[in-house]
Amino acid sequence: MVKVDLKLLKNQAKIELGKIKDLKELNDISNKYFGKEGKIGQILGSLEKLPKDKRASVGKSANDLKEFLKVIFEKKSEEIKFKIKKEQETKDWIDITAPGKKPTLGHLHPLTQTKRKVEEIFQSMGFSIIEGPEIETEWYNFDALNIPKNHPARDQWDTFWLKPENLRLLLRTHTSPVQVRYMEKNNPPLRIIAPGNVFRHEATDASHEFQLYQVEGLMVDKGISVPSFKAVVGEFFRRFFQKEVKFRLRPDFFPFTEPSFDISITCVVCGGKGCSVCKGTGWVEVAGAGMVNQNVFKYSGYIRGKWQGWAFGFGLERLTMMKYKINDIRLFRSGDLRFLNQF
Ligand code: FA5
Repeated sequence: MVKVDLKLLKNQAKIELGKIKDLKELNDISNKYFGKEGKIGQILGSLEKLPKDKRASVGKSANDLKEFLKVIFEKKSEEIKFKIKKEQETKDWIDITAPGKKPTLGHLHPLTQTKRKVEEIFQSMGFSIIEGPEIETEWYNFDALNIPKNHPARDQWDTFWLKPENLRLLLRTHTSPVQVRYMEKNNPPLRIIAPGNVFRHEATDASHEFQLYQVEGLMVDKGISVPSFKAVVGEFFRRFFQKEVKFRLRPDFFPFTEPSFDISITCVVCGGKGCSVCKGTGWVEVAGAGMVNQNVFKYSGYIRGKWQGWAFGFGLERLTMMKYKINDIRLFRSGDLRFLNQF
């Protein structure tokens, strides 16, 4: 009876071994036949229940079967492992003759490109590049610029105040505080520009952002006047736009300059016809400027009346918009690659 079972088992095992396709099946079959609770294990374990005269022959037959199947199993195991190794090798294969993949390179943000261009132009005209803090004190952002507390002129700059309020710290609303910080430590004659971020608690539209870049400019010497200012700005525009651009100065009001003016250029987005960027006027204001108010010299530690100077504050976004015909300032910080990849 047992002999017949062993024969059947042998045939069944041979068929199953032949069908094995992967490591999992290999493992299942190994457990099924050779495991402790496996088919052959059960036969060997039940030998003692057989009559004594049969034990030796059944035991031998079961062990022979085990050995026989083990040989087939090992061969199959080798085959499968070899197959898996080959498949892996094909997957990992590197064609060293294939042409390489070009890594996609990023590039500088258009505002960074503008900032660098502006720096390069002013440096070539003898200006040094100075930086100031983005978190500013009330003194430098307002008082030292001749904008006293409770003066309505402060409303011109909607301010992000920082907590705790008693420290009177704020996110600078313009780069003009750098004028005072620099003059406190340096004597004229001087020529500087100060690029950097500024922040305003303002609603946005096509030409207004609540975070923007400005570039402050300051030139102080004896006998400095508006014509030299116009000459420097004109030269800057020529080099920045690489063509003649029409610009105009109009009277404006800033407590830290006297007289004050704004600088506008013809709107390139609509060619001066009127659009959402220039609000239908055909002109875009790109900077505020003026002759430095003697009070600012005084707050910076200079003697009143001894020096003259002019200052300006350009908006870098607006300059960039005018250079590349960009019709909405909010595109710069939108993170939209379809926009950024054009520069
Ligand atoms: C000022 O900030 C003065 N500090 C400029 C100045 C410097 C005057 C030195 C005199 C002497 P104003 O707020 O106008 O001025 O801003 C200057 C320029 O920054 C504007 O002409 C414009 O180009 C840009 N600008 C101002 N506010 C915004 C805004 N919300 N979004 C985009 N650009 C702005």
